[in-house]
Amino acid sequence: MNLSQHLKNKQLFKTGILINGKWIKQDRTTFEVTNPSNKQQIAQVSQATDQDLIDALDTSIVAQLEWRQKSAKQRSIILRNWYQLIIDNQDDLATILTIEQGKPLSEARNEILYGASYIEWYSEEAKRINGYTIAANNPNQRVQINFEPIGVCAAITPWNFPNAMLARKVAPALAAGCSMIAKPSSLTPLSANALANLALEAGVPAGLFNIIHGHSGKIGEFLCTQTSIRKLSFTGSTEVGIWLYQNCANSMKKLSLELGGNAPLIIFPSADLDNATIGIMQSKFRNNGQTCVCSNRILVHSSIKHELITKLLNQISMLKLGSGLEPNVTTGPLINNNALIHIQSLVNDAIKNGASLHTGGRISSELQGLFFEPTLIECPNNNIRLFHEEIFGPILAIYTFETEEEAIKLANQTPYGLASYLFSQDIGQINRIMEQLQYGIVGVNTGLVSAENVPFGGIKMSGLGKEGGKSGIKEYLIEKYICLSL
Ligand code: SIN
Repeated sequence: MNLSQHLKNKQLFKTGILINGKWIKQDRTTFEVTNPSNKQQIAQVSQATDQDLIDALDTSIVAQLEWRQKSAKQRSIILRNWYQLIIDNQDDLATILTIEQGKPLSEARNEILYGASYIEWYSEEAKRINGYTIAANNPNQRVQINFEPIGVCAAITPWNFPNAMLARKVAPALAAGCSMIAKPSSLTPLSANALANLALEAGVPAGLFNIIHGHSGKIGEFLCTQTSIRKLSFTGSTEVGIWLYQNCANSMKKLSLELGGNAPLIIFPSADLDNATIGIMQSKFRNNGQTCVCSNRILVHSSIKHELITKLLNQISMLKLGSGLEPNVTTGPLINNNALIHIQSLVNDAIKNGASLHTGGRISSELQGLFFEPTLIECPNNNIRLFHEEIFGPILAIYTFETEEEAIKLANQTPYGLASYLFSQDIGQINRIMEQLQYGIVGVNTGLVSAENVPFGGIKMSGLGKEGGKSGIKEYLIEKYICLSL
């Protein structure tokens, strides 16, 4: 498939690595990128050599020293230009995203706007990095607190939101006066390259935002161990997050880790069931279940289970599986064969342990790509893998409870702590439950919680740090205390 024939702006189709403002391709080994809707090759992308990694770092160091000297307003203007270019090129960016990642075009466009919203937000926050003063203990002293850029930063970004997850790391870094070396997922490198190309066009200086592709383990080790990289931000699995945490110890760098989740979604008898049904569908089937905030466990009070299942089955019957480029498709493929095998094995395990399947439960026999039928499964207890593992696919797993205490116990019965949801009309109950949920994010009567202006992040095994909002930029700043004796 010739991807560039689908684009108005052919400059957005880049298959090299980006170092010091130049796209480098020649004499590099390449890896294949495929379209998960039909498994066809769409590009060969260059891998960084060992020397490329060193060059990326050296240019990042130089570019950061110059960038931090710019005024906040100058940085803000460049970020704002970048935002505007993304808006102007949103159709092409969405097309690239759909072809390499699989999500339907309308959802891909939403991701582009979601990613752009971080760049817009941080173009504004760049101007609001304010220090403060403290009344000194000694009358002959003055105490001042300054916020300064942490320095050279690195980002390792995932395939499920290849545009937005990169944007939400790079934007606060650049706004704070840092540089960024990014290693996007090898499954979806083209969205990252297109975004970076627009950054150059917007006036982001050469070397400030470098993109390296290639072997994750090798690049990950390089980024962790370099002492001149002062911050690493990662979105991905808890397993890889632990490895990065351990490998960053010797360089003592600051870390943001946005890791796996196992979100409960609790529905109490007082809930508006139509609204809860919408919330479940949105939180579960966004990106075909491949988000770390997807509801993983639907916990419903036994008195409303049948009614809820009927409503959900009706909604699921309206989903249309297919290639994201086709009109009316609501649900794309899974990312690769391993994902398909994982999802099938979770369903098989649940059925073996007494779960009843209401719909789906198998790989699509009609479509050729990596399509799994949207599934609703009723689980008798929590002694199944579905309860404990992050699903990352289109399985709605339903469990019942009798009392509030039981619901909270089930909800917190996981080492993860990213997102959670509850549906109730009882304000006392809402307050009791949201305070007891051991999660970084609680959605009340809504299934959509992500936005650029809020602190997104988990606790426990779901990671460290926040992305987005006022907190997101602090991750890229150091707080310097100045004691001034007069
Ligand atoms: C993720 O799945 O990693 C992020 C999802 C979001 O930002 O909503």
